[in-house]
Amino acid sequence: MNTKILTIDLDTRAYDIFIGTGLLSRLQDFIPDDVKKRSVFVITDENVTQYAQTVSEAATNLGASKVEVIVMPPGEGTKSFSSMQKISEFMLSNGLNRNSLIFAVGGGVIGDLAGFCASIAMRGVEFIQVPTTLLAQVDSSVGGKTGINTAQGKNLIGSFYQPSAVIADIETLKTLPKRELLAGYAEVAKYGLIQDEEFFKWLEQNGARVCSLEQDAVAYAVEKSCRAKALTVEADEKEHGRRALLNLGHTFGHALEAAAGYNGLLLHGEAVAIGMVMAFELSSRMGLCSNDDVERVEKHLQDIGLPTRAAYIDGLSTTVDDLIEVMRRDKKVVSGNMVFVLVNRVGEAFLSADVPEDLVRAVLKDSLGDEEKGTKGKWKSKFSSHS
Ligand code: GLY
Repeated sequence: MNTKILTIDLDTRAYDIFIGTGLLSRLQDFIPDDVKKRSVFVITDENVTQYAQTVSEAATNLGASKVEVIVMPPGEGTKSFSSMQKISEFMLSNGLNRNSLIFAVGGGVIGDLAGFCASIAMRGVEFIQVPTTLLAQVDSSVGGKTGINTAQGKNLIGSFYQPSAVIADIETLKTLPKRELLAGYAEVAKYGLIQDEEFFKWLEQNGARVCSLEQDAVAYAVEKSCRAKALTVEADEKEHGRRALLNLGHTFGHALEAAAGYNGLLLHGEAVAIGMVMAFELSSRMGLCSNDDVERVEKHLQDIGLPTRAAYIDGLSTTVDDLIEVMRRDKKVVSGNMVFVLVNRVGEAFLSADVPEDLVRAVLKDSLGDEEKGTKGKWKSKFSSHS
């Protein structure tokens, strides 16, 4: 396929997103010519060191003064204060200066963590996103959100800091575990649910092809998602309004992730899938969208192989009160009110700070399920690939 180039137009911080196959084997076409004589840091995780090695070799061949690869453990637990300290101190002890160049090679965890380190190192060092997961290619590598998790919740410490390029080689998805691929798909579906029913219809017909990594389908889904994200970020870089729509399902999802403990029990995209169903359910209970819409969304996500209820996550132990407490610490809380992304229908989302708490509680209770009715563990048995 031809390489697609999308530009995020943010004045002096504008940058390109390159989408295609085999991009890593011709990295010199996409990274800055002036890498010569610069110190380069490639931040990655243990699962994708081969891609980090490719980036490192390309930087060396282009004449970088030195290249250091920093390998972190995979998983959400790595997005922490201690990782930030470790990476920062390593770079400071190994030749970091204002002219250094940092590459984030990996999924959302590495992109967010490396981007945050880049934003605070010497008050800001150039960085390039090389996303190797579907989730990172369609969402987290684009738009400049960086950060880490704390005991109080997800992404509560971070910065807006744009990369200078995003290089999304869809061939890297071939080595991505199926569970991670499906988790990333939740963020693809999100764009259709928020603002593009036609795209959601396309996904209903072609989602299985995306998840089987049929090249034309994946390339279309990544490009469509990045276009939607680019337009949103251009309109509202720092999330004063429209960008918050991209958080459909995330207030619920982040609470579930915090309850699950960032240890692999529940992946971010899985939590988003459950959260999006909850957002539709909440909207339906508020008389905004139809129950058919709720069922349509849940059916598609289940068909793809994603969990759609908290009850389906074996080993998740939490309560409505615990989840509400985490949701109250969400970044979107305004004047004490939780802010939700609600929907009028598939493809039409909006923000609301006026949501009755008893309905939120009812939706949470419903999703957590009722052991006696046998909902607990249903997803795990239905989708045995989830282990
Ligand atoms: N992942 C949502 C955003 O970047 O705004």
